Amino acid sequence: MTIIRTLLLLVLASFSASSPARTQESSKASLVPHLEQRGSATQLIVDGKPFLVLGGELHNSSSSSLLYMAPIWPRLRAIHLNTVLAPVSWELMEPEDGKFDFSVVDGLIDGARQNHLRLVFLWFGSWKNTYSSYAPEWVKRNIDRFPRVQTSDGRGTERLSPFSQENQKADSHAFAALMRHIKQKDGDLHTVIMVQVENEVGVIPEARDHSAAADKAFSSPVPQELMLWRRQHSASLDPEFRGSWESAGRKESGTWSEVFGKGPLTDDLFMAWHYARYINTVAGAGKSEYELPMFTNAALMRPNYQPGQYNSGGPLPHSLDIWRAGAAALDFFSPDIYLDNFAEWSQKYHRPANPLFIPEAVGEAVGAANVFYAIGQLQAVGFSPFGIDGTASSSSPERPEGTNAALAASYAVLEHLASLILEKQSEGAIATVLVEGESQRAGRLSLGNYTFTAVRSSSADAGKRGAAMFLEIGPDEYIVAGSGNLTITFSPNTPGPPIAGIASIEEQILQDSNWIQRRRLNGDENGQGQVLRLESTALPAIFRLRLYRYR
Ligand code: DGJ
Repeated sequence: MTIIRTLLLLVLASFSASSPARTQESSKASLVPHLEQRGSATQLIVDGKPFLVLGGELHNSSSSSLLYMAPIWPRLRAIHLNTVLAPVSWELMEPEDGKFDFSVVDGLIDGARQNHLRLVFLWFGSWKNTYSSYAPEWVKRNIDRFPRVQTSDGRGTERLSPFSQENQKADSHAFAALMRHIKQKDGDLHTVIMVQVENEVGVIPEARDHSAAADKAFSSPVPQELMLWRRQHSASLDPEFRGSWESAGRKESGTWSEVFGKGPLTDDLFMAWHYARYINTVAGAGKSEYELPMFTNAALMRPNYQPGQYNSGGPLPHSLDIWRAGAAALDFFSPDIYLDNFAEWSQKYHRPANPLFIPEAVGEAVGAANVFYAIGQLQAVGFSPFGIDGTASSSSPERPEGTNAALAASYAVLEHLASLILEKQSEGAIATVLVEGESQRAGRLSLGNYTFTAVRSSSADAGKRGAAMFLEIGPDEYIVAGSGNLTITFSPNTPGPPIAGIASIEEQILQDSNWIQRRRLNGDENGQGQVLRLESTALPAIFRLRLYRYR
């Protein structure tokens, strides 16, 4: 492991050496957490250094009570989280119109600091899972001042309408107050590193709002900003978005139905634009107080679901162009991935100008493998299973609470390798193979001079997820880590002797909080020198693999 340590030191040294002298003020501004393009990856910079978010999102109500949170913080640190995603609700923060109470916010920041954790706050403002349940009572009760989304038969719903200026003003005012306060309390220490603005917005069971204001906007011309954005980005538009415009006759102006065709998908695109504009205003008001990276998240849709059956208007792959056009104050859009085809969904959000960050996902053994794919294949900024505190479950009995032992093992490895991973992300010298689903038995990738094939180790592993992450640290040398039971073989992919052999495999394990150099693997442990085996039953482990070639 001396090589890894040397590499880490070199990486750290190059950061400090490349820092130009700055004035006190500009150096303070540059220390505010921000996103930065570093080589082939967009990374989150915290305290001047790239930071990998090994996160977990709390159940919705946990962060409403500091007492409830007290025993949870150390448990989260013990499973190697470095960041907690914690809701901050409008109702608790502004219990009366214009009167703010930041005691919970302050307590969360203090609790995280005491446990060496960072925070991503989730602003539960106007919307949480399509509803407005977290709006303060004074907002909920005053439906004249704060109008609601309406159904086509004229009924109100418990959702603030994105077509109301008053709704937008009240939310922006509260969010700006929150960001101002975070800056005062935390502007030097940067415990809070990002903010999610609203949560899983959209409408159901109809694909759009039918309030009078919404109807009026729907029969008005599509805003020129959106049309212009479409023209300027025509080469990279999402195929479904482009398709709806093309099949409606490629019009450069007209109402929503004229430009995108009549039908529920147009309702969905229309809502996406108006949610984007609203949230852009809220996020912009917050950023003008304290410019932390901000994003919003999507509830994904199940196969064959139609607009109205899923959160219509949310930042889904087919409407990401609209969101990017309408909400430039947001730095990226995130998927909440509870579906089995993790690779496919995460790839849809890994786009130029949209770095991948997964604020909600399945945890346990599934998350333990998926995190390697997100971080090690798609250069993710971070990963965060939902319900990480594992108590007081929400209404999701299909996701039983557990110990998070498998996730903790993955996070222990990723925590140890974080600096090297970030460096390899930016160099494009990292890759992960994910074996997922019932039918997939093996996966393959190429990195540097070799192609790696990972196969489920036994039929008993059928359906279980496995991931193997490779970091190229030399022409024939790799750091390998992962989750699940996989057997890995190698073959050269560059000119030269055609067969790859193992020169050596060294194992490093986490024992009693220390990483120690352990076995040199050979014989039965590596199939008589022919394979590398990842085993989920072992202690958290990292392998240094050296290959050679022969004929
Ligand atoms: C997705 C939401 O965004 C979370 O806040 C939470 O409600 C989970 N669903 C529950 O599974």
